[in-house]
Amino acid sequence: MSSFHYRSDELYCEDVSVSRLAEEFGTPLWIYSKAYLLGQLRQIQEAFAAAEPVICYSVKANSNLSILKAMSEAGSSFDVVSGGELYRVKAAGADTTKVVFAGVGKTDEEIRFALESQILMFDVESEAELDAIAAIAGDMDVVAPIALRLNPDVDAKTHAKTTTGKKGNKFGMDIERFQELAAKVLRDSRLKLLGIHIHLGSPILTTDPYAEAGAKAVEVVKGLRAAGHDIQWLNLGGGFGISYRGNEGLPASAYANVIVPAVKAAGCRLALEPGRFIVGNSAILCTQVVFTKREGGKLFVIQDGAMNDLIRPAMYDSFHRLWPVKSTVAMPDLVESEIAGCEKTDVVGPICESSDYFAKDRYLPPMQRGDLLAIFSAGAYGTAMSSNYNSRPRATEVLVDGGKVTVIRRRETYADLIAQELLEE
Ligand code: LLP
Repeated sequence: MSSFHYRSDELYCEDVSVSRLAEEFGTPLWIYSKAYLLGQLRQIQEAFAAAEPVICYSVKANSNLSILKAMSEAGSSFDVVSGGELYRVKAAGADTTKVVFAGVGKTDEEIRFALESQILMFDVESEAELDAIAAIAGDMDVVAPIALRLNPDVDAKTHAKTTTGKKGNKFGMDIERFQELAAKVLRDSRLKLLGIHIHLGSPILTTDPYAEAGAKAVEVVKGLRAAGHDIQWLNLGGGFGISYRGNEGLPASAYANVIVPAVKAAGCRLALEPGRFIVGNSAILCTQVVFTKREGGKLFVIQDGAMNDLIRPAMYDSFHRLWPVKSTVAMPDLVESEIAGCEKTDVVGPICESSDYFAKDRYLPPMQRGDLLAIFSAGAYGTAMSSNYNSRPRATEVLVDGGKVTVIRRRETYADLIAQELLEE
């Protein structure tokens, strides 16, 4: 049974009724299924077992401490891209010795913090960064473990704003510079090259880009070993797609089928950085209809969730399924086509921007003031990208585990909104 399912016309998360949660905690409300989260992680661990993987859950997808703790307890490590993310990983009580640190603009302070935390390796993205890491490692009298990030020039056929492995993106280095830096590392006792890092983009719904990048990586590893490097790790990043609309997402085994042979051919251990695959479908955003209105030939449902909570539709035109929490019309497998008893609806929020919407021209059952709405697939890049725009407090997050409910982030108050600000005398 899916973690989110309808029982007698009413949505449940595991064994808990969503409307009961909304009543108790208010809306907007983020509701996570722990069983789903752990199930997704397990699926990856099992699919890739033959490559002795270190799964580095990508903290940027959802950095809530309880999510990180659950991941850590289930055997995951972490991919971080800032000192703040590393701080969170430590605060969640996780071991930092399998953490990988990517990002094109690591500051000296962040590099020092990561070296002190004895992370597994930095994913180095430029020569200037390599020099900075070497200098700081020298000052600290330690050897910095690194991977070089290769831009493999592979088209992942994803959204222009989330593609990273194509020539001209700001990430990584092309093969020529990669080779130059590898040679430089050999001459520098402050650095040790342990692996290659590649991240292609996100979300990727086919396996071909991974096969293409894996084949390139095998050749690069061979070359590096011949040059005298002790290469142990092949880090193929994250990016596994999920089902936002219907069943378009692939199982982890499909990606494993093309990645594991490459890792074996390279004679490496595998690191992966999945974020969305683990957390994306683990949560809904539950909101409440404030008003409805008909204007300009359209039906608008105005609800209390907004782009400050979930910015993905505004930012990437991304599609999220949504459906009333209580409905006698069953939620169809695909939400896009015409449905009996439904009307084309725009679901919008209260923020003063036309981009503040969750759905446009979507066939939905009739809704009224006070009705609850579920916005699905909201677990990845939802809370992590949320803000206080329009001075809206960030919403409560609850984690459901069977019948048990835990508040994992309390709702912000108006006082929280101004707590960091100081009045000029
Ligand atoms: N590793 C690196 C180096 C990354 O840059 C990313 C995502 C990941 C791993 C995790 O990718 P995932 O497995 O979650 O697809 N805000 C956008 C997505 C941005 C992804 C940024 N990098 C969205 O809401 O779709």
